[in-house]
Amino acid sequence: MSGKSYKIAVLPGDGTGPEVVVEGLKVLKASANKFNFTMDFTEYDWGGDRYLATGEVLPEDASETLKQYDSVYLGAIGHPDVKPGILEKGILLKLRFDLDQYINLRPVKLYPGVDTPLKDKGPEDIDYVVVRENTGGLYTGIGGFTMKGTADEVAVQSMVYNRAQVERCIRYAFEYTRKRGKKNTLALSGKTNVLTYVYDLWERVFNEVGEADYPDITREYYHVDATCMWMVKNPEWFDVIVTGNMFGDIITDLGAITQGGMGIAAGGNINPNGVSMFEPIGGSAPKYTGKNVINPLAAIASGQMMLDHLGETEAAAAIEKAIIHVTGQKMKSMGAGKMGYSTTEVGDLVAEHV
Ligand code: IPM
Ligand code: MN
Repeated sequence: MSGKSYKIAVLPGDGTGPEVVVEGLKVLKASANKFNFTMDFTEYDWGGDRYLATGEVLPEDASETLKQYDSVYLGAIGHPDVKPGILEKGILLKLRFDLDQYINLRPVKLYPGVDTPLKDKGPEDIDYVVVRENTGGLYTGIGGFTMKGTADEVAVQSMVYNRAQVERCIRYAFEYTRKRGKKNTLALSGKTNVLTYVYDLWERVFNEVGEADYPDITREYYHVDATCMWMVKNPEWFDVIVTGNMFGDIITDLGAITQGGMGIAAGGNINPNGVSMFEPIGGSAPKYTGKNVINPLAAIASGQMMLDHLGETEAAAAIEKAIIHVTGQKMKSMGAGKMGYSTTEVGDLVAEHV
C-alpha cells in the first residue's frame, strides 16, 4: 500500500514478446490497483521489425532515455530475418552494458502443478537462485580474427574480468543469500582446474569477502561441469549459486528446463544503483508468434520480480501466489499450445486471482 508512482519503459520487442508483455502488463495493472500504487507505462518499438524498416538497431539516445525510468520491462529480442547476433548484441547486450546491469538474477523455482524432467523431484527440491555476472567475461567482446578465410585463420575471444567487477558481483550474491534467509549457503560455480587465472581470481575474492564480511553464510565451491550434474541429480543442495557470465548463461538454461521450461523462467538484469530490466529468459519463439498459444507466465513472473525490486513486496507476493494458483489448479502444461488455455486466458486467470 505504498501510494507510490513508477515510470516503466516497456520494450515488447520481437516475435511473441508483444503478446506476453500484454499479459504481464495486465497483471501489473491489476496488482497496482489492488495494492494502491500507480504505474505509468511508455512503450518503445525497438526490435527486429524496426531494424528491418529503418536500418537502425537502436536510436542513439536509447540508453539515456531508459535512464529516466524506474525500471524497464522487456518481452523478447530476436528476429528470424535478421542475422543472429545483430539484435542480441545491438539491443539486449548493449542495454545491459550501458545501464551497467551487472547482475543477472535467475530464480530456479518449480511451482506446484508444473512438470519437471527430473525424476522424483518436486517443488520442495527445486528452489534456488543463480546470480550470473552480467557485463563481463566472454561477453566483453574482446578478441578478433587474423588471416580470416584462410586455412591458418585465428579467432580469439577472451574471458576478461577485473577484480572490481568480480567483487561487486560476489558481494551482491552474499547480500542476496543473507536476505533470502533460506539455507544461508552461497556456492561459487567456476572452473579453477582449467581457467586458472579467471576463476582463481573469483575464488580468492569469494573467500576473502566471505571470510571478512559474511561469516554467517556457508561457502561452497563446484566446478561448472559438476554444477550441471548436481543441478539434475541433487537440486535440493542449492540455495544461491554465483558464477561468471558465460557459465551463468549456460547453467540457467539447464535450470529453466528443470523448473518447467522457457514458458515459466524469468530473470532480472539488475543494476543495484540504477535502472534494472526484467525479462522472460526465453527467446522470441517466431513459430508461435501471433497464435495466442505462448505461455505468458515467464513474462508475468518477471513483472513480479520487477515489483519486488521496486519495493512493492506485497504486490509481488500476491502475483506469485496467483501464479501458483494457476499452475497448480488450472493449467495442463507450461508448453506453448498445450496449456489448456490461450495466452490471453492465462493472463486473465492470474490477473483475476491477484
Ligand atoms: C540470455 C540470452 C542472451 C545471453 C543472448 C540472447 C544474447 O541467451 O539472456 O540468456 O546470452 O545472455
Ligand atoms: Mn541464455
